[in-house]
Amino acid sequence: MQKLIIQGGLPLHGEVSISGAKNAALPLLCAALLTGESLTINNVPALQDITTMLSLLKQMGTRVTEHGNGEIVLSAAALTHLVAPYEMVKTMRAAILVLGPLLARAGEAEISLPGGCAIGLRPVDQHIKGLQAMGAEIAIRHGYIHAVAKKLHGARIVFDIVTVTGTENLMMAATLAEGTTILENAAREPEIIDLAHCLSAMGAKIHGAGTDIITVEGVSSLHGAEHTVMPDRIETGTFLVAATAAGGEIHLKNTDAHLLDAVLDKLTEAGARIDSAANWINLTMQTKPKAVNIRTAPYPAFPTDMQAQFMSLNCIADGTAIMTETIFENRLMHVQELKRMNANIEVEGNAAIVTGITQLDSANVMATDLRASASLVIAGLVAQGETVIDRIYHLDRGYENIEGKLSALGAQIRRIQ
Ligand code: UD1
Repeated sequence: MQKLIIQGGLPLHGEVSISGAKNAALPLLCAALLTGESLTINNVPALQDITTMLSLLKQMGTRVTEHGNGEIVLSAAALTHLVAPYEMVKTMRAAILVLGPLLARAGEAEISLPGGCAIGLRPVDQHIKGLQAMGAEIAIRHGYIHAVAKKLHGARIVFDIVTVTGTENLMMAATLAEGTTILENAAREPEIIDLAHCLSAMGAKIHGAGTDIITVEGVSSLHGAEHTVMPDRIETGTFLVAATAAGGEIHLKNTDAHLLDAVLDKLTEAGARIDSAANWINLTMQTKPKAVNIRTAPYPAFPTDMQAQFMSLNCIADGTAIMTETIFENRLMHVQELKRMNANIEVEGNAAIVTGITQLDSANVMATDLRASASLVIAGLVAQGETVIDRIYHLDRGYENIEGKLSALGAQIRRIQ
């Protein structure tokens, strides 16, 4: 199993190019199932989750051509196998995103239930409820969702809870349904707007993406298109937190400050100076960071996917911070690992009270999920001595070449077998 070894204590200086967003690319690849024509997606990040999604789409009969440099052409002219098996869904929950497109285009799908995952229960009841409202017959048998629909029809669907992939799944399904679908209490994440842009380029009629009411007028078929994946706001935020914790000055290109207002506000509160223009962000940090309180909530509020990284920052900040996780039940697992590095953290229910100390101590730690892994990398960058992070396959699911990018910023980080 591969590990990362980090020699902490160095500030970060230099320039990094931000990759395409994992959470935008995954639904965009699934959109290829909605048409028999070719869909070209550019700026797709080289990540394990993308490889898993491409294998799944290939298994279903999609022709996939990878041109390098992040350009992928998908052609789902003939769908032969409408199944997402347990082996794939258990490693990548986003595989549920094939459900809506398959039902809408092929009238049938069999998708393994994702089950629990490291950060919480994460049910898919909202996806199922929405598709049922659109006329699908759904049964759960042997751990699989069996869904059939001769033709989906439009419906008014009010989500009980704000769900990102739930909104994406139903938005994709609605593009080919008969009549108009209205999604209320929809998620407003930028990745949903990116997907809507691609679907519109394919001929879909969508209004309101990025607001909590999305209206989709169904069309009889979609056609091929070309689309470029938006920048990864979580990768962007992770590098910005790393530089705020370690000090220094970094310049991030191919990204967009407007995607992460809540995160940039917190970094400024912590003492960082941030400048930005259309496609870059510059961060300078010359003081010891100040502790910042965090409460995660759906977009545009502070993202749950940045909570763990800010916890590492708060571990070495001046003062005490209260960090409340409101999206997932079990997303404080990095606390135990950070405590092994001497962090002062108390957990009360879904909140962590973090009191900053002068310096973290290096240790052998274990990555438990994707963003928790990123928090350990940041902790390793600011700790005294050598930190070894095990189980970094979690990190490879969502960060493209993280050690290469951090090395370019002057960090001492290497991967070993
Ligand atoms: C997406 C992101 C993930 C991010 C999360 C929250 C992708 C591929 N992943 O995950 O990185 O952490 O949004 O911003 O885009 N829920 C239900 N029933 C449902 C669906 C969700 O109860 O049918 C609950 C979940 O358990 C969770 C909350 O709703 O507590 C939000 O989950 P959701 O927005 O669906 O997360 P994902 O779309 O899986």
